Amino acid sequence: MKVIGFNGSPRKNWNSAIMLENALKGAAAAGAETELVHLIDLNATGCRSCFACKRLGGKSFGRCAVKDDLTDILARALEADAIYISAPVYFGDVPGMVRNLFERLWFPGLMYRRDGACAYDKKVKVGLIYTMNCPDEHFYDSLTGSHKATFERFFGETEVLCATETLQFDNYDLYVGDMFDVPRRKERREKVFPLDCEKAFRLGQKLAE
Ligand SMILES: Cc1cc2nc3c(=O)[nH]c(=O)nc-3n(C[C@H](O)[C@H](O)[C@H](O)COP(=O)(O)O)c2cc1C
Repeated sequence: MKVIGFNGSPRKNWNSAIMLENALKGAAAAGAETELVHLIDLNATGCRSCFACKRLGGKSFGRCAVKDDLTDILARALEADAIYISAPVYFGDVPGMVRNLFERLWFPGLMYRRDGACAYDKKVKVGLIYTMNCPDEHFYDSLTGSHKATFERFFGETEVLCATETLQFDNYDLYVGDMFDVPRRKERREKVFPLDCEKAFRLGQKLAE
């Protein structure tokens, strides 16, 4: 059992990364071999619309032909049994580097066929984790629902987990703005975030079983 996890936050040790680490610990507890990739370390783009992945008889059929830092990692992801992706919400969406990953994972699986058949012959389970300022994860239902539907189309069983009202900075006094209820944020960091991390652990464990 192999699980590859992608941290889609530029911060390597904050909310999204911590949630992902917990999911990977859960996978390891289920006996999986795990790998963690920080997308921020990679020099990579999204789909370049070369269509090499769809070329009749082409050597890259069903695979992304773009050569960059994601190339080998994508190959490992398609061989893995589960993929976990943890990302902050940025302006109601995922950060660009996560979107790049999505395009590179999804598009080679898409064949322009009426029966909707997918170029991937292997099922891979997917765990999608989102962290956000927003108090209600359902605010982003259409975003997470559309990601889940697309992963289920190309990969397999997909689970979504959200951590809301995350602590964005250590010290809110250093930054402009008065929209946050800072004592509440700190309390949530102490009391709710550990529960979110436990949920991430269980999600990681379940998908790896
Ligand atoms: C550029 C940027 C845009 C953001 N946009 C949103 C947003 O639209 N909705 C939201 O709930 N939080 C938003 N946030 C807050 C982050 O999603 C939240 O703090 C998240 O937990 C950060 O993840 P990290 O700690 O792993 O970096 C934004 C943060 C940044 C830096």
